[in-house]
Amino acid sequence: MTRHKILVIDDEPANLRLLKRVLGSDYDTYCANSGLEGLEYLRQEQFSLIITDQRMPGMSGVEVLQESLSLAPLAVRILLTGYTDIQALIDAINTGNVYKYIQKPWDAEDLRLTVRRALEAYDLKNRNDELVLELQSALKQLENISIGTIVALANALDAKCDYTSGHSLRVSRYSLCIGRKLGFSPDELKDLELAGILHDIGKIGVPEAILWKPGRLDPEEQKIMSAHPVRSAQMIEEIEQFDRVRLWVRHHHEHLDGSGYPDQLAGENIPLGSRVILVADAYDAMTSDRPYRNSIGFEKATGELRKHSGRQFEGEMVEALLSVVGEGGENLTAEGIPESYLGLKLGGINPQQSGKQYLLETARRAQA
Ligand SMILES: [Fe+2]
Repeated sequence: MTRHKILVIDDEPANLRLLKRVLGSDYDTYCANSGLEGLEYLRQEQFSLIITDQRMPGMSGVEVLQESLSLAPLAVRILLTGYTDIQALIDAINTGNVYKYIQKPWDAEDLRLTVRRALEAYDLKNRNDELVLELQSALKQLENISIGTIVALANALDAKCDYTSGHSLRVSRYSLCIGRKLGFSPDELKDLELAGILHDIGKIGVPEAILWKPGRLDPEEQKIMSAHPVRSAQMIEEIEQFDRVRLWVRHHHEHLDGSGYPDQLAGENIPLGSRVILVADAYDAMTSDRPYRNSIGFEKATGELRKHSGRQFEGEMVEALLSVVGEGGENLTAEGIPESYLGLKLGGINPQQSGKQYLLETARRAQA
């Protein structure tokens, strides 16, 4: 273990010699004969402990300790004072972050003991700080792994069922646009981004023949397809922290007038985040190519959203999204969309995994 460095400051050379004799055998002890010289040492070396006399010409001990706070924030501070320096003691305790004061004349054994305890406190605090940092770093790693897993799941889904990949991430990002515009809290925005990514995850269980069907679905197929919000919610059932995300995912196909699914909720009974995702999802579905039709373009998509405002979509949310994506959709590039709350990149999608590739490959095999 490395030896602790101690800085002692006193204008009396005899006192410095004495302090060095008492402490020098156990610690690397540096001596300064004025406050200014002491501060100079603090700029050059890292000390565990500072011991200073109070009464010195020029700078007092309390002033030195106050100055030392910015130069050596972690060091433990001890003030040596006479019986009459009551005001100095009060100042030192209030402003100099003093661990202990020692009255003069001091006893060598008492001083050794006080220094040992002060350094134990120093070591303990440092160890605690290290542990807190380790814990924070471990938590961050865990969060990154969780987010990575969620994105991998979303990518797997997009590869399976969307004509253009990246649908989940885009819905997530459009939802963020709306949430920010409507003044959602940071916690709500984080959940909104997660819910946007996970909203359709239950489609992983829907057969590809249904997902990829170019024409209309028959009633039985429609039933299977309509089960996906409940499936999505079930897939994240085990994650306790996702209570609100799960609720928003489950209801992302409810319509304002109660004509949606799975629970035919209406108006404000539909969870707020679900109403946001509905608008974001519809917007992305209309402005990207699908197996059964190409994008209808920004103009028509805008018209459709506004036409169904008040019945299917909440008007305020439609306007919030349209104000963000811009007239004519000029802000639709990844750069035009606000930054992700979870650090996710829209460009992280591999176009080779898109459904379009899957369709082309299926057609090629059919011909071979
Ligand atoms: Fe959906």
